[in-house]
Amino acid sequence: KNLAIDVSNVAPEVSLDQINAEKENVQKHLETLMAKTGKGNDFLGWVDLPAEISADHLKSIEATAERLRNKADYVVVTGIGGSYLGARAVIDALNDSFDHLKGERKNPVILYAGHNISEDYTYELLELLKDKSFGIIVISKSGTTTEPAIAFRVLKELLETKYDKSEVKERIVAITDAKKGALRTLAEQEGYETFVIPDDVGGRYSVLTPVGLLPIAVAGFSISELVRGAKTMRDLTGTDVPFDKNPSSIYAATRNLLYQKGKKTEILVNYHPKLHYFAEWWKQLYGESEGKENKGIFPAAVDFTTDLHSMGQWIQEGERTIFETVISVGAARHRVLIPRDEANLDNLNYLAGKRIDEVNKMAELGTRIAHTDGGVPNIRIELPELNEYYLGQMIYFFEKACGISGYILGVNPFDQPGVEAYKKNMFALLGKPGFEKETEAIKKRL
Ligand code: PA5
Repeated sequence: KNLAIDVSNVAPEVSLDQINAEKENVQKHLETLMAKTGKGNDFLGWVDLPAEISADHLKSIEATAERLRNKADYVVVTGIGGSYLGARAVIDALNDSFDHLKGERKNPVILYAGHNISEDYTYELLELLKDKSFGIIVISKSGTTTEPAIAFRVLKELLETKYDKSEVKERIVAITDAKKGALRTLAEQEGYETFVIPDDVGGRYSVLTPVGLLPIAVAGFSISELVRGAKTMRDLTGTDVPFDKNPSSIYAATRNLLYQKGKKTEILVNYHPKLHYFAEWWKQLYGESEGKENKGIFPAAVDFTTDLHSMGQWIQEGERTIFETVISVGAARHRVLIPRDEANLDNLNYLAGKRIDEVNKMAELGTRIAHTDGGVPNIRIELPELNEYYLGQMIYFFEKACGISGYILGVNPFDQPGVEAYKKNMFALLGKPGFEKETEAIKKRL
């Protein structure tokens, strides 16, 4: 079994014939992507990554993960955007929901820092860690991003008050550019172990580099299975696969047709709270890749059935400019039956003996019918189960589709010029050396 896509519920807005008519156009973009001849082609290292990762590379990541696992009860993954979301997406999807509250532990608790600049968050994290055994994985491709740099500075200071220099070195791992950036200089001077983010892999496509793989391995999950899943999906989405069998091509074609029909917002839907951060990863992937030149589908996400009780009304009857892409997970990992109750005061005995997942599945089916009846086209991504292998498939499926989709839209899906605007203003406001002119200009506007 593999990940599969079902686009039979995007009609009547888009018909299967219209999707199939995109075959040649999409195939052309897929070939451009694979031949690395299109826009942003210096950032296409991720395309072949799953096939190129060697067993030795995985082993060296696993060995470092093992050292951190043995030393630390808490490991703080310090990074933002593409240097954070992939790891969190996979770890949350696979972790026991209450893992961090369980006493007897096999794996360190994974915590996150450097993905915000909240002083209270930082204070509370430091308070938690001050009498705990902890380690840090600091991740920044540029090595100069403000959020993780601040977080790393304070966490490093705390670590240095707890341990001597040689022990600190054992507890910090830096993942950054091979040569450039402040983090590279710092790591070399302090003697931290480092892993490299390849030049040709951008942040949001970096989950299958040490950026994602090291934290995922520290959390106790199989990175070789994750990579194997991605590799399978690479084969299933190659240029030799017919259009109607290629899930990434179909997804890219369908969402662009919907966009052309005025469906400007795509809502990624899950029925398992474990997938919340997968949606955050997906939002970054598509938002940063396509939202440019005043174009691009707005990527949104909901957790169902939770959000059916908050956003459900809008989706059912609000402005008809949306479509849904549902991640539909085949089998639940655990089994809980709904008990029979003699008094039946809650009138639930009609469900007695059923699995909770069966109710979840009927909620999913009922919602799909209601939303399509209400004018919300529905794409379904079927994932056989939530494990490393299928998550690897889903990651590569979305990455490949994103590249094709960006090319259909006519943008460069591998740059992100727009993220600099806020940084420039923030540096000007903070009086960063080198920003004197900008400081003067922005002060006049206040
Ligand atoms: O996708 C991207 O390029 C961004 O989200 C970056 O990953 C994010 O800004 C963090 O950058 P860096 O890894 O350089 O600290």
